[in-house]
Amino acid sequence: MTSNLHISTHPLARHKLTILRNQNTEPKKFREVVRELAMMLVLEATADLQLAPLPITTPLAETTGYKLAENVGLIPILRAGLGMVEGALEILPSAQVWHIGLYRDERTLRPVEYYNKLPVSPTVQICLVLDPMLATGGSAVATVDILKRWGAQRIKFVGLIGAPEGVRRLSQAHPDVHIHLAALDDRLNDIGYIVPGLGDAGDRQFGTG
Ligand code: PRP
Ligand code: URA
Repeated sequence: MTSNLHISTHPLARHKLTILRNQNTEPKKFREVVRELAMMLVLEATADLQLAPLPITTPLAETTGYKLAENVGLIPILRAGLGMVEGALEILPSAQVWHIGLYRDERTLRPVEYYNKLPVSPTVQICLVLDPMLATGGSAVATVDILKRWGAQRIKFVGLIGAPEGVRRLSQAHPDVHIHLAALDDRLNDIGYIVPGLGDAGDRQFGTG
């Protein structure tokens, strides 16, 4: 597997992902855990953000601290990526959120674009694509294609579960894109679902299954 793949080894990530995998977890709890996992994974994915020095005064002395020197864009892929935005914003409150609407055609498994309101040129230095599931990789590759055409330079994919097929496809199409996941699962089934996975991430968050 590509060296650009980062699987969280944090015990809390494994614990929380198990709650999502459980078919008995209700949408309310499911959404809560998606938010928490998104926060953890975004924390890991942003470990290389650039800082600028910031002189400040503490109650005891003058010192030099730090502030973020880069603007971060969060790009949730509608619908399921929406559930990851809140957790990401909790630790990156000044991030910009730009939505991309794609759904996977159930017959062809190809992504179909239905929403894109990116501004004319990039307003951020780093883009985090948020989507819980990296299955065939079609949606992630299409989103990165859109962001690169827009002019984005640094792009990372942050998801919850990946299939080997999706990781391979994304890293072959976009070797520069780092992939951050909570788990790499076994395979896709014959209708393109990740096994063991967690089912349909959109349906389970929004109660539409
Ligand atoms: C799911 C998921 C990804 C995509 C992954 O979305 O959230 O966007 O499938 O599959 P892929 O890697 O094979 O492209 P879906 O199309 O079900 O839409 P939804 O989020 O609106 O439910
Ligand atoms: N989309 C999902 O929500 N789940 C899968 O397992 C595959 C694609």
